[in-house]
Amino acid sequence: MLTVAVLISGAGSNLRALLEAARHPDFPARIVVVGADRDADGLAHAEEFGIPSFSVPFRAFATRDEWGEELGRQLEVWSPDLIVLSGLMRLLPASLVARYSPHIINTHPAYLPEFPGAHGVRDALASGVTETGASVIVVDDGVDSGPILAQERVPVHPGDTEHRLHERIKPVERRLLIDVVRGIATGDIDLKTAS
Ligand code: GRF
Repeated sequence: MLTVAVLISGAGSNLRALLEAARHPDFPARIVVVGADRDADGLAHAEEFGIPSFSVPFRAFATRDEWGEELGRQLEVWSPDLIVLSGLMRLLPASLVARYSPHIINTHPAYLPEFPGAHGVRDALASGVTETGASVIVVDDGVDSGPILAQERVPVHPGDTEHRLHERIKPVERRLLIDVVRGIATGDIDLKTAS
């Protein structure tokens, strides 16, 4: 059974979808802990599902590296096979990425390498494209630059707001994320050869 730690910053709707998938007895992965870089609303989902959680507030540390060291210490307690960044709005320090790579994946609300970064939905909308998408990637040292594990197109509709478009992308992100975690757990996806 693949053990998974999920890191979030926000509402955790994608986390919740993964928690729901993982509670089925035939799902080949288990979420063992949920962590956040702030007092994230999404931590409530972990509590509801009886999954341990922790918060390592970014602002409580002088440097990204010090924050990353504490995050690494918290993760080590659970020795997860896989770390899922599900809306974690912080770059991990390179040392932490190096420690777990390639066993760290990230979801992104755009069709990478289009529109990387924190505002993937806003940037797609501003550029006037008629379709964007969702991606699941391996985390590397760059910003949303790692190998792509799964992605799918999502249309941009006339009159879309950032919120509406994001809400249309998120269900696709969730489905891709669940499929990728399942694929890693069954061995259908080999992170070492994907990277
Ligand atoms: C997702 O679209 C994620 O890719 C982006 O933020 C969103 C997270 O939403 N970076 P939630 O916290 O899962 O509701």
